[in-house]
Amino acid sequence: MRSSIDRFIVEELSSIVGEENIVFGLDRVESYLLDETPPPIRPEPCRDIVVVKPASTEEVSAILKLASDRMIPVFPRGGGTGLVGGCIPTRSGIVLCLERMNRIEIDIDNMIAEVEAGATLHDLIEAADKADLFFPPHPGDEYAQIGGLIACNAGGARAVRTGVMRNYVRGIEAVLPTGDVLKLGGKLLKNNTGYDIMQLIVGSEGTLAVITKAFIRLYPKLPFSITMVVPFDSRSKALKTVPAIMKSGITPLALEYVERIPVELSASRLGLEWPCRDGEAFLIIILAEQDEDYLYRLCEKLLDICLEFGSFEPIVAERRDEQDRILKIRSEIYTALKPGMVDILDVTVPPASIGLLMDRVEEIARSYGTYLPAYGHAGDGNIHVHIMREEGWDTRIYDDIRDRIYSVALELGGVITGEHGIGFVRKSSLLRFSNPVYIDLIRRIKQIFDPNNILNPDKLLP
Ligand code: LAC
Ligand code: ZN
Repeated sequence: MRSSIDRFIVEELSSIVGEENIVFGLDRVESYLLDETPPPIRPEPCRDIVVVKPASTEEVSAILKLASDRMIPVFPRGGGTGLVGGCIPTRSGIVLCLERMNRIEIDIDNMIAEVEAGATLHDLIEAADKADLFFPPHPGDEYAQIGGLIACNAGGARAVRTGVMRNYVRGIEAVLPTGDVLKLGGKLLKNNTGYDIMQLIVGSEGTLAVITKAFIRLYPKLPFSITMVVPFDSRSKALKTVPAIMKSGITPLALEYVERIPVELSASRLGLEWPCRDGEAFLIIILAEQDEDYLYRLCEKLLDICLEFGSFEPIVAERRDEQDRILKIRSEIYTALKPGMVDILDVTVPPASIGLLMDRVEEIARSYGTYLPAYGHAGDGNIHVHIMREEGWDTRIYDDIRDRIYSVALELGGVITGEHGIGFVRKSSLLRFSNPVYIDLIRRIKQIFDPNNILNPDKLLP
């Protein structure tokens, strides 16, 4: 591939952000090349890049103007926690790191956080807490950055109650590939001014604009919480309980599904112990409320429902550290499975069809004589099925399994991705499993925003 980076470009970039905010040289850019995508499906990164770290929207604008004039690809990068290769530089170009833009201001009366793109999720949670407010969703790794979370419309374990990232974004400041700055929305709860371009940029995976700032809605705290682990002897019993819980009028903060083998693997990797001796399939249910008595009433009602569906004795964690331990084991299943993993899927079906989906996944696993470990956001119908490495298999077999799972998801009225997005690795699947009218429309939208295809090329669009 032709190099687009020469000494003159580096000098011009230095004059925008200062020499100390440039990383250049094959041996220095290593930590800007990857994300969390499983290595077998991750694209080969291009090392011929220059990393640029602007401090303001004006600097981002100047960088994009330069890139546009010289037709240099630009790869926006947040915390690098994505799972589909969305920020990996696949061509010679500029990696645009927003990490220096990390200011947060909280408007307590309007309950809105004004957050620069490079602030981390951890920073936002902490800033909201200090203002005695709460950022309800927990869209993934706390080192993820706000710009990336918005660009990828991140979900996470609390989406069943709180919704996903886009439900909290009330305004953005973004820079178009031409360098033009666009301000949309603000500290507003209502905005009906024409096409909702802001929501189009949310979830566009850095292909339409670079988000530099956002107005994020906050809520009052939910000070009381309980985490329960409810064991069942089978996957189907556990999953059948989920719609019954949702229909009961209780909306848990999280309603997650896990299985014994992956969850024990994660626990032992962390030096912890999974708290349930009985059961093969488990629901992890978090309740959080403003009133303690109400919380306990919901907890009793919920455990009664689980018993009706054949659960064993639940573990009820009330202490913060006990609750955190359970959540940590759940959150790190992906990392525990990663060494033997080929791919992590995030198909999503109507929530009540999740049992059907998993029956079909089990059939597929049997027909290939493999094990497809699964866990995920049961309340959202969003399950992570993992394709694991098998001795002697080539990519064709892994691809077949993936396609069969995607076909089942679509048959059930679902989608190929409910959480991780398209990035680099799902492009061909997007093409095969989408209506051509849709594909044509997204291509034309990309063309309008980015006619020279300089912004995160090779991503999202098939
Ligand atoms: C999870 C990530 C993999 O749910 O989405 O753990
Ligand atoms: Zn997930």
